[in-house]
Amino acid sequence: MDDKQNDNLRPRPVSESKSEMIELVLPNDTNPLGALLGGRLMHWIDLAGALAAHRHSHSYAVTASMDHIDFLVPVHVGDMVILQSAVNRVFHSSMEVGVKVLVENYISGTRQKVATAYLTFVAVDRFGRKLQVAPVVPETEEEQRRYEGALRRREASRNERERRQAARR
Ligand SMILES: CC(C)(COP(=O)(O)OP(=O)(O)OC[C@H]1O[C@@H](n2cnc3c(N)ncnc32)[C@H](O)[C@@H]1OP(=O)(O)O)[C@@H](O)C(=O)NCCC(=O)NCCS
Repeated sequence: MDDKQNDNLRPRPVSESKSEMIELVLPNDTNPLGALLGGRLMHWIDLAGALAAHRHSHSYAVTASMDHIDFLVPVHVGDMVILQSAVNRVFHSSMEVGVKVLVENYISGTRQKVATAYLTFVAVDRFGRKLQVAPVVPETEEEQRRYEGALRRREASRNERERRQAARR
């Protein structure tokens, strides 16, 4: 293993992966009633999640899965959407990233939660081969809670995948 690979596997705090992406909702992002399309929001969630995965792993990453999303409040044309992401936990080649979506009313300065999503990214090299990812170090109580939750979610989604595969046989 060379020095660069060693450095890539250095444990990193969650804070190093924290990312924020801001989008202004334009007419092309909305349905005929002026409400943000769910598919557009999912696209932004994927991109915001990828930012954190790249920052943490110092590598390319592909989306392996995205959990279900509940849209809590409608978002309208002209609204400002804020997507905050961070790596919650690393396994081997995969990492769980949490994305929180907020809508900001820039007239009143208030923010409302729109959605939360958990995504799994797998680190790959430029040939698409899986790579080991550096451990992530939770430093706050909130980060520790998400770190523990990530293991439970991984086990639950594995069980669910196995159940679906068995049902197909
Ligand atoms: C995701 C992908 C790299 C997994 O490759 P694979 O050889 O089937 O994976 P493995 O079974 O060896 O698992 C590799 C890791 O991915 C995780 N993983 C695989 N499928 C997963 C899924 N559906 N959800 C969550 N994690 C998953 C495994 O748990 C494992 O994690 P670990 O290394 O941290 O323990 C591969 O399926 C792929 O390239 N998919 C397409 C990705 C893509 O193009 N995404 C864009 C959307 S189209």
